[in-house]
Amino acid sequence: MAIRSSKKESIDKEGMFNRIRDEQLSLCGVLEEIADSLPHSVDRQVCIHTSRILPQIIDRAHRFEEDVLFPLLENSKTVAHDLEATIKRLKNEHMGDKCFAEELGEVLMSYGLGKPMQGAEATGYMLRGFFEALRRHVAFEKELFASIFSKNGGFGKVFDNEN
Ligand SMILES: [Fe+2]
Repeated sequence: MAIRSSKKESIDKEGMFNRIRDEQLSLCGVLEEIADSLPHSVDRQVCIHTSRILPQIIDRAHRFEEDVLFPLLENSKTVAHDLEATIKRLKNEHMGDKCFAEELGEVLMSYGLGKPMQGAEATGYMLRGFFEALRRHVAFEKELFASIFSKNGGFGKVFDNEN
């Protein structure tokens, strides 16, 4: 019974691991479409919706990674302990993304309300800076964790070994 619940928990966590990555990449796609639509074809409803979901998606990803995934690797008995600097770097990138996401949310809301707080060129630059960096971050995490999990028998094996 305990094994079954542990297995289910690891499957849920693997699902979450995939979900937060997909959500962030979808968000990048929407931000790119907004950047491409500047200055004259901006969909105001999309800006309003994106300004609302942007901090939620970023926060959900950071919480899962920092509360579940990183501690799992840091405390792992099976995974090599040479990840300290990498995890520190990823956490620093999270902090930068969180601040950037808040600013971007305000800018997008201003477009949604039809009162842009800055010009199209600055907004396009800001959008591209955010989604390009986020795509790099997500790609790096995907590669890193895929390699760790495959070397250690899969996501479930790493997770179950620590519980
Ligand atoms: Fe991350």
